[in-house]
Amino acid sequence: MNKPKSNLFGLSGSVKDQLAQKMLEKRLKKVSASEIEKKSAKRSRKSLLSNSKIPDEFCRFDKFPGYQQIRILETGGKQLGVETPFFKVHEGVASNTTQIAGQEYINFASYNYLDLCGHPEVSQAAKEAIDQYGTSASASRPVAGERPIQRDLEVALAKVYDVDDCIVFVSGHATNVTTIGYLFGPKDLILHDSLIHNSIVQGGQLSGAKRLPFPHNDWQALDDILFQQRKKYERVLIVIEGIYSMDGDYPDLKRFVEIKKRHKAFLMVDEAHALGVLGDKGHGIKEHAGVDGHEVDLWMGTLSKTLASCGGYIAGENALIEHLKFSAPGFLYSVGISPPLAASALAALKILDEEPQRVKQLKDRGQQFLELAQQHGLNIGSSAGLSVIPIITGGSANAGRLANAMFKRGINVQPIFYPAVQEGMARLRFFICSSHTEDQISQTIDILVDEMAKL
Ligand SMILES: Cc1ncc(COP(=O)(O)O)c(C=O)c1O
Repeated sequence: MNKPKSNLFGLSGSVKDQLAQKMLEKRLKKVSASEIEKKSAKRSRKSLLSNSKIPDEFCRFDKFPGYQQIRILETGGKQLGVETPFFKVHEGVASNTTQIAGQEYINFASYNYLDLCGHPEVSQAAKEAIDQYGTSASASRPVAGERPIQRDLEVALAKVYDVDDCIVFVSGHATNVTTIGYLFGPKDLILHDSLIHNSIVQGGQLSGAKRLPFPHNDWQALDDILFQQRKKYERVLIVIEGIYSMDGDYPDLKRFVEIKKRHKAFLMVDEAHALGVLGDKGHGIKEHAGVDGHEVDLWMGTLSKTLASCGGYIAGENALIEHLKFSAPGFLYSVGISPPLAASALAALKILDEEPQRVKQLKDRGQQFLELAQQHGLNIGSSAGLSVIPIITGGSANAGRLANAMFKRGINVQPIFYPAVQEGMARLRFFICSSHTEDQISQTIDILVDEMAKL
């Protein structure tokens, strides 16, 4: 495939697109936070302090730079003829198919990797937990007390990683923010993969630690940074993902374990997209790489993907889990996971253990998708062909148009634009699930090839 021209916002294509993009960039720059800061710096201290002169951008929500940029992008999208692909309303369980506005679509936009969301036993477990405990844990667990189902889930998750214990939080994103934000501080260093999830970055920012990204999956570059930097800091945290959510590839975990040991650093692995996907049993990158659970210091995961629920967890040694349970603000000052959500995740975990064939089905369909895409010369980046397979289009306008064209032909797939991915690396992101059929995959690739030719 031709490498598309790319620039600031990853838009590319016809001259008309490029002109429209230039206009967009100009308008976006005008409202950017840095431009507004420049303007404020020019204002005299006196004028800033005088109440009557407080500028609109400091007291009106519609003047926030981020909001203005959203409006400009929306208008720009309309000018480029790209309808917004976001916030579609699903009318039932989203798995290999979904229903939107009364129409059935082949669906590639859900994290329901093993089809456990909507599974009768998972739904039944949630209903029984509601009947027994109600819908909410009402307050934080240290204060309001425990529901046995919460603890059962933690024990079951600790078993997956073969570590001492586990703590469950109400959100995957908040798990990363509060764990990293609480454990690390200004004298520490956080080294993370350049494609790491936003929640890790936010946690790092909250901690006040020095934060350095290293090139994607490049353990040698990480090793070099540690040789140069390790001794300047107290604690060092290395953060990687089990499967990268935008690219669908995975790291060489054994190398990272060896490096973290050599430099006396902590290693954290975010398993959000790897649990239920990697390894024959679906126990994630630990099983896939054949490492011992204790060789990774913090196993992090989310309940929202394979486990058909909502929440996040950290699994590891007793000293870590107990510390977080008594002190991490996102646990101590936030409500405990609701009983139906704990019950559904636990039921999903049980099915994962009993039915490893789901993991195999997912992998088979992922491989089929990957091979067909490669045969047609589509750019799948570095995807391993498991749960996440991107089709990189380069420009955001093309990704938006392609997603809309696919939708019109009965396929629901989301486009991903900058800043979620690097500029010029916009894509359609396909999530595979175990119930996708061979026919659905080959039909999708045929339509994709057809629509890409029209761009
Ligand atoms: C790698 C990674 N970590 C953490 C999260 C946050 O998890 P949740 O959406 O369950 O809050 C996500 C969300 O997609 C993710 O992809």
